[in-house]
Amino acid sequence: MDPLDFIISLAREAGALLAQRLDGPRDIAYKHRGDLVTDADRASERLIVERIREHFPTAAILGEEGGAYAGAGDERFIVDPLDGTTNYAHRYPMFCVSIGYERAGVLEAGAIFAPVLGPAGELYAARRGGTATLNGEPITVSEIGTVGDALVCTGFVPSRYERNASNFATLSNTAQAVRRDGSAALDIAFVAGGRFEGFWEWDLKPWDMAAGAVIVEAAGGRVSGIDGAPFDVAVGSILATNGATHDEMLGLLV
Ligand code: IPD
Ligand code: CA
Ligand code: CA
Repeated sequence: MDPLDFIISLAREAGALLAQRLDGPRDIAYKHRGDLVTDADRASERLIVERIREHFPTAAILGEEGGAYAGAGDERFIVDPLDGTTNYAHRYPMFCVSIGYERAGVLEAGAIFAPVLGPAGELYAARRGGTATLNGEPITVSEIGTVGDALVCTGFVPSRYERNASNFATLSNTAQAVRRDGSAALDIAFVAGGRFEGFWEWDLKPWDMAAGAVIVEAAGGRVSGIDGAPFDVAVGSILATNGATHDEMLGLLV
């Protein structure tokens, strides 16, 4: 099966599970302050891991909720079964399933599904070097060329406020507006779709960034570390932009 088709249908299936449980009772536990996990995160990951094991039995899996397999081949799926858990717990609709597909250490495809946005959910997808799509229609990043005209977004967990305070202040004084919307994967997808000109965050995990990085690049955007280093999914910082504002953002962020 084509890996992109597979992760698209898998993100849709897991997203449907999240949507179905959204209004029901939930079981919330805390990993650390501000870092929640619910029964829905675990159920979504169980489903995703089961499907991957069935269709790609030799692939490695890196899943946030512990669904890790070493694998016997050179393929790896990088899975956030529910990105935006705090939003989900409050029934705030910015949450998604994010699945990246890597072969021989290169990110080849990504799919991000936000099941309760819009009338039919929003499915962002791309393969490396291909066309990025939203619900099957091509998307590109925005053409806005200056941070002063840009809507940008960031994220940080409460315990990392100090690390982010100065960047938040700088961009709040420079950009048209700053948002902190609580789902890194979906925030990155919004850059690909042209809603945000840029997104930055320190201290992310591979599952927050893998799919989004492929989709933004396919949509014509640019992805790097916050320090300007080449993007590396194993290093927890990302600046994803429409390209036109990238250098100016790099100059502003510390
Ligand atoms: C979190 C969200 C949040 C970001 C955090 C992530 P989770 O992921 O993406 O926006 O600021 O750094 O850990 O816990 O909801 O999957
Ligand atoms: Ca996450
Ligand atoms: Ca998660």
